[in-house]
Amino acid sequence: MRWRARAAPSRAKERANISFFIFIMFFAVFGVIVLTELLLLERPTPGSTRSRYNEDLQGWEGRTETGGEGAEPPPPAHAPLDAVWQPVAGTRFRFYVYSAYVERRTVAAVRVIAATKTRGADAVMCRLWLSDNRTVTLKARVKPIRENWNLRYSATYVLCLLRDSGIKPQETVGASLSLVASTAPNRPPTNLLTVRDTEPKSGIEETLHVCVKPFHFSYSRDEWLVEWFELNRLLGVSHFYMYNESLSAQVACLLDHYRKKGLVTLLPWKLPIVSKVEIRTEGQFAAFNDCLYRSMSTAGWLLVIDVDEVILPRRERTLPALLTALRAAYNPPSKAPSAFLFRNAFFYLRWEDDAEAPAPLVTARKTRRWAAPHALKNRSKYALRPRDAVELGNHFVWELAPGASSVGVPTDRALLHHYRIACEYGGVQCLTVPSTVDRTAHRWSDELIQRVSSEKEQVAKTCPA
Ligand SMILES: *[C@@H]1O[C@H](CO)[C@@H](O)[C@H](O)[C@H]1NC(C)=O
Ligand SMILES: *[C@@H]1O[C@H](CO)[C@@H](O)[C@H](O)[C@H]1NC(C)=O
Ligand SMILES: *[C@@H]1O[C@H](CO)[C@@H](O)[C@H](O)[C@H]1NC(C)=O
Repeated sequence: MRWRARAAPSRAKERANISFFIFIMFFAVFGVIVLTELLLLERPTPGSTRSRYNEDLQGWEGRTETGGEGAEPPPPAHAPLDAVWQPVAGTRFRFYVYSAYVERRTVAAVRVIAATKTRGADAVMCRLWLSDNRTVTLKARVKPIRENWNLRYSATYVLCLLRDSGIKPQETVGASLSLVASTAPNRPPTNLLTVRDTEPKSGIEETLHVCVKPFHFSYSRDEWLVEWFELNRLLGVSHFYMYNESLSAQVACLLDHYRKKGLVTLLPWKLPIVSKVEIRTEGQFAAFNDCLYRSMSTAGWLLVIDVDEVILPRRERTLPALLTALRAAYNPPSKAPSAFLFRNAFFYLRWEDDAEAPAPLVTARKTRRWAAPHALKNRSKYALRPRDAVELGNHFVWELAPGASSVGVPTDRALLHHYRIACEYGGVQCLTVPSTVDRTAHRWSDELIQRVSSEKEQVAKTCPA
């Protein structure tokens, strides 16, 4: 009893000592951090964080002497870039920007396509250099794009708000824009974007463009890709936006062939965030939404599909004809939907060839499909008026402009043909799912085989076998 009574106070004292020690250490460490920050910010020396930016921004050194509190932010030190992932410096979590677009519809702003932490992203500000030499700093709203699958990182919108700035959206066209961390406002910018216009040009109502998610895993189905391109061209597509994470030499050559014809825009897509682990597949939602704004001024219609999918109308020969007909059914025309969803039907490549195939084409040979197409929003894909859309998802549109609507297309008008290599559930589905033969694709087969043969001849002259 006695020794216990004495031991207790001595243990308590020991604990108090440890607590005091931790308390002191905490402040010591805190002090060192603050001191370091101050020294680095005020007096950049070789080897400090400042010199890292000198590498990023060639030619920056010696142009300005800044760093003090309230100093004017330095001007852009390199030409603004578009469609390249660039870092935002000074943030706690990785933060990248890709492109910037004028937003006039939902709010007066510059809309930046970015990728960063899904929740608790760093606060940022936008610095805008206008063509008349005015420089302004804008408040920014960081907004994760909804389809992020709850992963740690997400495709993100940053809205640089023009409210109270005295600047109209139109004036930002062609301006340079940089995102800076709110906690480090005087750092030289590590990113610089060109603000692109989104105003629809006149006479584009019937033009149809396609968005495709980033190519990855060294995508290499060049042979099929020719058929896919040519069928889509027959269906009325006049331009394709594509993103290159990785692709084979043959596909690269093929895309270059189509690029020279003005049909393909291939954009780099090296996002330093781990796909599928940290961010949903290659940050594809940043790509879809970049494509939406990139095409807005030139595309009357936009189709978001994958390279193993085509949307085939049952009556019309082209998709613009179908979409115009679908819209014409609404009265008054202002009630017509801006987005049309197409239901998915798998055509398994492992199913037998059609004995009546009129040409040696995948779409002519593979005519067996699921008897019952998937429900809407379950693997469906869509066509829309880009000017009426704000935020795109994979299988439907997340947000339309005020007043716009979206509707499903009946299967007797069109279907999404999904040419799939693998069957679901380890192949079982190929054997058990009820199927039917659907020869809609044969309507294009004769014309398609001629086009495919002619393109392949041209491609063979320049591309390695
Ligand atoms: C902007 O600055 C440049 C270089 O200083 C000058 O040549 C140009 O005239 C200025 N433009 C306007 C609109 O003030
Ligand atoms: C595609 O991207 C890879 C890696 O980012 C690059 O090495 C390659 O040159 C690019 N190909 C084309 C055709 O742009
Ligand atoms: C999507 O459709 C498939 C096939 O009809 C079905 O098995 C699956 O449960 C559906 N998924 C959802 C999320 O509804």
